[in-house]
Amino acid sequence: MNQKRDSFSDKFGVIAAAAGSAIGLGNIWRFPYVLGENGGGAFLLIYLFFIVAIGVPVMLSELLIGRRAQRSVFGAFKILAPGLKFFKVVGVMGVSAAFLILSFYAVVAGWTVEYTMLAVGNQLVDKTPVELSDMFADFSSSVWRPILYLLVFMAMTAGIVIGGVKNGIEKYTKVLMPILFVIILVLCVNALLLDGAVEGLSFLFQPDFSKINGIVVLEALGQAFFSLSIGMGIIATYGSYIQKKENLLNTAISVSVADTLIAVLAGVAIFPAVFAFGIQPDAGPGLVFVTLPNIFNQMFGGYFFAIAFFVLLLIAALTSSVSLLEVVVAYITEEIHLSRQKATLLATVMVTFLGVFCVIYPFLFDSFDYVTSNFMLPISGILISVFVGWIIGKQHTKEELEAHGGSVKIVGVLIVILKIVAPFAIALVFMKNLGLLDL
Ligand code: PFF
Repeated sequence: MNQKRDSFSDKFGVIAAAAGSAIGLGNIWRFPYVLGENGGGAFLLIYLFFIVAIGVPVMLSELLIGRRAQRSVFGAFKILAPGLKFFKVVGVMGVSAAFLILSFYAVVAGWTVEYTMLAVGNQLVDKTPVELSDMFADFSSSVWRPILYLLVFMAMTAGIVIGGVKNGIEKYTKVLMPILFVIILVLCVNALLLDGAVEGLSFLFQPDFSKINGIVVLEALGQAFFSLSIGMGIIATYGSYIQKKENLLNTAISVSVADTLIAVLAGVAIFPAVFAFGIQPDAGPGLVFVTLPNIFNQMFGGYFFAIAFFVLLLIAALTSSVSLLEVVVAYITEEIHLSRQKATLLATVMVTFLGVFCVIYPFLFDSFDYVTSNFMLPISGILISVFVGWIIGKQHTKEELEAHGGSVKIVGVLIVILKIVAPFAIALVFMKNLGLLDL
């Protein structure tokens, strides 16, 4: 039944799609403000450590679970460990988390559509900082406009997913990701020419170790998980579309490097401007929607840079939402046996419906965010590591990694990380989020 499984056609397709999932609002909207609030360079160092030590191994485990089983996250555990019914919970959580995350992620993504339109219509100019902040507050707390943009955004997402893996996801991410890369480079060059460049860069790159404490460390790990899209089974689902000829370790490393690079470049694009225009680097979540338009307003060529920035944000959000919708669609096609078209339509209508509720009742928005990132993500993250480390173990892992001349040497290290280091570290983040760890 799996012979006709759709797959990515080549290495670039795999990387564009997986990097498209990883690179999102988490890199461009969240990373700069979390870094700003947590002391800059020191946070960056710890973040990099976690990406290498835990992020890459967990991403690799997801890729190999998916490819081994040739099923999306829901079916994968049933196939790889039929006797261990308990692990089905990862699939159930993965699909429900993707569903819940997409319903609020798409609302924020809708804001990026609105801001792109505002930037194009030159509506962000000549506004005082107070007006810009009121404008954002008005917009994000109103009902009809966010719903309208949510619908527009979900239609775009569905339009890509309906095409399938090769002719939808791969085709679009192969074009959109390079565009994203060029836009961010242009924004970085512009930022480096500003007066605040040196100050911005030293904030970003000069570690101040006095700022490091337990909370900062755990914040960095949580951000690494969210940013790499791991712990949700999304990467496992994409893994199931990767052909045997691809090297999974290289894929995990390339995607993690691309994701980290874009987060750092977003910092390089934003902080010099923050310092050049005398704005506090720890402005929080409003950093890109309120602070940046102020900066574009005062900048030479600000009209174009504003458009470029919001298009960048929109592309980043779109390719991540595509991966979230794909997990739900793959579940419906594989388990309920609907065609991709029907499944996409059904999933889109359900997610959009929930998204509308998130707009109308902001507490839903906050609760979905809270429940998914504080409970579902770490629990699945631990189970995925334990599954590969303890259950499917060395033999499957070796075979998947060696499939295309991959290195065998790293298998031992990988298994130790997955058996002990990753579950323990994730458990700490989990306990901290639940307030069980007093740091
Ligand atoms: N990794 C994406 C980002 O950084 O914005 C978002 C994301 C996608 C997070 C999928 C979690 C997820 F399951």
